[in-house]
Amino acid sequence: MNDGESKPQDRLADWLAEDMIAVNALIRERMASEHAPRIPEVTAHLVEAGGKRLRPMLTLAAARICGYTGPFHVHLAATVEFIHTATLLHDDVVDESTRRRGRPTANLLWDNKSSVLVGDYLFSRSFQLMVETGSLRVLDILANASATIAEGEVLQLTAAQDLATTEAIYLQVVRGKTAALFSAATEVGGVIAGAPEAQVRALFTYGDALGVAFQIVDDLLDYGGTAEAIGKNTGDDFRERKLTLPVIKAVAQASEKERAFWQRTIEKGVQNEGDLAEAMAIMARHGAMEAARSDALAWAKIARDALGELPDHPLRAMLDDLAGYVISRIN
Ligand code: IPE
Ligand code: IPE
Ligand code: MG
Ligand code: MG
Repeated sequence: MNDGESKPQDRLADWLAEDMIAVNALIRERMASEHAPRIPEVTAHLVEAGGKRLRPMLTLAAARICGYTGPFHVHLAATVEFIHTATLLHDDVVDESTRRRGRPTANLLWDNKSSVLVGDYLFSRSFQLMVETGSLRVLDILANASATIAEGEVLQLTAAQDLATTEAIYLQVVRGKTAALFSAATEVGGVIAGAPEAQVRALFTYGDALGVAFQIVDDLLDYGGTAEAIGKNTGDDFRERKLTLPVIKAVAQASEKERAFWQRTIEKGVQNEGDLAEAMAIMARHGAMEAARSDALAWAKIARDALGELPDHPLRAMLDDLAGYVISRIN
């Protein structure tokens, strides 16, 4: 929060409060299972921890901006949050993460098996929800997004530990694992509202660019943030030997000695006490964090510019502010 002003995401939440109550009620209803008590245990742990609910708010806002008055934006918003929650359960297994939303992860509290299977359950529930809208086009968009997220995660798996990873590959990973759901979230809002194609395209572009900016910032926070602020552990990406944008930029400019450092810590995975701090010092030396931040800013601008295509609406202004706010998390 800056200077006592409310965050754009809080203003969005205020404006969309009635819709979000319906979304949360639907999420709670559909995350339950009569037959396997482990499911509500795990889902409640994660869902009740909160989360920013950014993606469902994007869907609701997109639908409202395009004048939608029917009931199905609520189903779509819940669908999007279910897909997100499922990917988080799986992602924390893959990343061997121990903290999420300020709590121990499900894989730590229960086990990997529960996280994978409950994640699958949530994916399936998300498909049931979207079918209820009766729109084949939203089904197509969200099914594509789910496949693209998985592709992004798998591509990241093979790019990890590889110092030859380029910014183009990083972008491909990020577009898949993160931006695909942001853009689907905004796009389906426009589609359910029956918005003109130019507006649907603008919503896609906004979500895609916002998602890329969001993930770049998330990756910067993994080095420069605090566990309290992000509700996750910092330093996870370095430990997992992931080539995120600031690292890729630093590797590109590395001296011989620095290259040897990256080879040992990222390629060979031999990490000692103090290496994370050393990595940060090297990145600082090359202005890598700053350069990544300015890339994120450029993506936020693409997002904002796309909004010009949409009807004038108070929620449109909040989406504009949100693009700026995403970057300000690292200020
Ligand atoms: C976490 O997303 C996964 C990333 C794409 C970095 P969020 O930061 O939106 O997670 P929650 O839902 O608020 O916990
Ligand atoms: C986020 O992946 C994207 C997905 C969950 C698919 P990350 O691994 O980069 O995000 P955090 O840091 O765990 O939230
Ligand atoms: Mg992760
Ligand atoms: Mg991950």
